[in-house]
Amino acid sequence: MERKKVTIAELHQKKISGQKISMMTAYDYPTARLVDEAGIDTILVGDSLGMVMLGYESTVPVTMEEMLHHSKAVTRGAKSAFVLGDMPFMSYQVGVKRAIENAGRFMKEAACDCVKLEGGTEMVPVVKAIVTAGIPVCAHIGLTPQTATKLSGFKVQGKDAESAKELVQSAKDLEEAGAFMIVLEAIPDLLAAKITEALTIPVIGIGAGKDCDGQVLVYHDLVGLFERFTPKFAKQYINLSPKIREALVQFRTEVENGTFPGPEHTFTMKPEEAEKLG
Ligand code: KIV
Repeated sequence: MERKKVTIAELHQKKISGQKISMMTAYDYPTARLVDEAGIDTILVGDSLGMVMLGYESTVPVTMEEMLHHSKAVTRGAKSAFVLGDMPFMSYQVGVKRAIENAGRFMKEAACDCVKLEGGTEMVPVVKAIVTAGIPVCAHIGLTPQTATKLSGFKVQGKDAESAKELVQSAKDLEEAGAFMIVLEAIPDLLAAKITEALTIPVIGIGAGKDCDGQVLVYHDLVGLFERFTPKFAKQYINLSPKIREALVQFRTEVENGTFPGPEHTFTMKPEEAEKLG
């Protein structure tokens, strides 16, 4: 049976009824189709694509054009899943006008269902402005990779009471500002549980323990396609890299020894036509 398009109301209903929400990153058409067909609720076109697809050292260099290019491919493949377009670094920090324009591009050009942006209480005016313009916003706090340098690296956040209280406040402020959902990245499970309990909007965790309303993983971590490093919170469900490498070496070997293409991959001509060809 064909799945209907996932809506914000359904995501909120899942929180109320205690049903967990699934979110997976995807950056291209075939992956979006697979994620969609797996029945996953939401697809995040994360700016993590800068690292796992484009080979950048961090998410900082990712541009609007790169995000839109990938988001367009994803929304062509995702028929039912709710698609989040991740706003890249400096596409929403410079001013609310620029933030609204860029958020609008995710909706108008890439057909995303909402945008996601990183930052706590300081992002309240931006969230308010984008939401007022009619664009749903998912917030993202805790470890915020775009500002990892400011955080002194990719470190777990909110480990002491003071910073934990700040994160609770940020989460509440972002909900108040109109965010419809929030992602918590790399924070202690106890703090994530407190934030989840304190908010009425769904809370999606990545490295934030099991008590969030849902979980997100980076696709390339899940399938073993990003070999540079694996964060502690990522679970690899299948390791595709060695399998793909093996297939590629087999192809090269068969080309070199002439066993590929075989007769089953080859087109033939009628003998009489071949004869005329000379
Ligand atoms: O860009 C991304 O993939 C993300 C997730 C890690 C939540 O922001």
